[in-house]
Formats: sequence, C-alpha cells, structure tokens
Amino acid sequence: MMKRLALAIGTVVVACSAMAQKSASDGIAEYRAMLQDGNPAELFEAKGEDLWRQKRGPKNASLEQCDLGKGPGVVKGAFVELPRYFADTNKVQDLESRLLTCMETLQGFNAADIAKTPYGKGEQNNVTALATWIAAESRGMKFNLPNSHVAEKTMYEVGKRLFFMRGGSHDFACATCHGEDGKRIRLQDLPNLTKNPGDGAGFAAWPAYRVSNGQMWSMQLRLNDCYRQQRFPYPLFGSDATIALGTYMGVNAKGAESIAPAIKR
Ligand code: HEC
Repeated sequence: MMKRLALAIGTVVVACSAMAQKSASDGIAEYRAMLQDGNPAELFEAKGEDLWRQKRGPKNASLEQCDLGKGPGVVKGAFVELPRYFADTNKVQDLESRLLTCMETLQGFNAADIAKTPYGKGEQNNVTALATWIAAESRGMKFNLPNSHVAEKTMYEVGKRLFFMRGGSHDFACATCHGEDGKRIRLQDLPNLTKNPGDGAGFAAWPAYRVSNGQMWSMQLRLNDCYRQQRFPYPLFGSDATIALGTYMGVNAKGAESIAPAIKR
C-alpha cells in the first residue's frame, strides 16, 4: 500500500515538474494545434475556390485564366514562389496585388478601388478568400521564390532596407520586434524574420485566421497591421513597400514549409 502510494506521489511530482518546464510558447503551440482541427480558414478556402471559378465583374468572367506566375490557371505551387516579377505589369507582385491585376484585366473590376476599400468590406473580403484558397493549394510545399530577375533582386534589397528602417514616434523598425531570436509580445513568439524562421513561421503561416478578432487576414493585412504597431502611416493595400517586405521575407524563408492558412491567437 505504502509502496503504491509513494509510486503514485512520485508520478504526480514528475508530471508537475514536466508541466512547470513547459514554456508558455509550448502551451500556445498546443493550443494552436488543437484549434487547427477546426480551423475556420476552411470556410474561406471554400469561398475562395468558388470565387475563382465564378463568372463575375463587369466582364462576367472567371479567374480561371489568371497567371499567378506559373502560367495561366496554374494554382498549385504558385503561392510558395510569390512575390515574383511579372512581365505583363512589369512589376514584382505578391499574391494579393496579382489577384487585383487579374480581377481588373479578366473581370473588369477596378483594382485601385478594391485596394482602397476598407478592410473587411466588399471585394477586399473576396481577395482574402481567394488568397486563402490559393495558399492552401500549396500547403506543405517549400518556399522557393525565383529571386533571379533584376527587379526581384531590387525589391529584396528595398525590403531589407525597409525592414531595418527606424522611425515614427517610438523609433521602431520591423527589426525592433522581429530582428532577434526568442522575443515575445503578449506571450506571442515573435519570429526572427532577418533569416529563415523555419517551417510554418512568419511568411510561411499567412493567410491566417485570427482567433482574437475572428478575422481572416492575408499577409497584406498582417503587414499593414504591423506597420500600425510600428506607429507608421498606413502603407496601403498592395503598396510597393509591403511587396518589397514580402520579397525580403519570402526569399529569406527559402526551403521553409508553408502551413498557410494557419490559425493564430
Ligand atoms: C511593436 C512590435 C512590432 C513591430 C515593430 C512589427 N511587428 Fe510584426 N508582429 C508583431 C506581433 C505582436 C505579431 C503577432 C505575433 C502573433 O500573434 O503570433 C507580429 C507578427 C508578424 C508576422 C507574422 C509572424 C508569424 O509567424 O505569424 C510577420 C510576417 C510580421 N509581423 C512582419 C513584420 C514586418 C515586416 C514589420 C515591419 C513593417 C513588423 N512586423 C513590425 C509585432 C511587431
């Protein structure tokens, strides 16, 4: 009896110290894994796939001929190679800005108007759903931005400079919060984005569903919100600044596996 009791107490003690050793970030990782089973991003994925095939807009056309970088209509694998250079627009574009181009050229929407639409309204919501589905089609694939065209190399350099550019009321740069390993805000790990943060982190996790506000965010919205946290002016949806930052982070993430669409706090 005594022996069994001692054994039982021993087990409890071992279990407790194991729990104490579990860090807050392990806890949050577990919480995310539990939520991943019922990730509401799936609803946006389904909506995005539907929108891709639907005939819409002034030209009553679908997006099925949209070239996301791997040829018209090729969706699989496109996400992990963006941002990249597109000859038709003579620009480096990320997923969201490329979608705006296709919505304008194929469907007749006004891209500038959509970019200006406040977040969470009208066609902006459709862009987010489309981005969620397109990202999901590359789930498990590794980032491999081309970074070979001179425009892509320029955008990478611009993105790097922007990442380290300090300013605003708090003299913050992206690097202030994302420039070292092991930093945290409000218990959230802040990935070091000056190098490859690893599978499913940083650039490889967005679009993501945010439990804290019940919203689906594409990378464009993530970056615009980080600029807000940095106390900088709103850079605008699809701005060259956000695309340059995306190029910098995307190239740095080479070889990291995409888990997008992820689920976040
Ligand atoms: C004041 C601190 C702060 C600054 C400055 C900041 N961010 Fe963030 N960033 C955050 C926080 C907080 C999160 C959310 C972490 C979470 O919820 O998991 C985040 C998340 C991110 C993520 C997603 C990370 C992931 O693994 O999900 C990216 C990418 C990112 N930021 C990029 C940037 C870029 C680029 C800049 C500069 C324009 C920037 N951030 C500036 C605080 C900051």
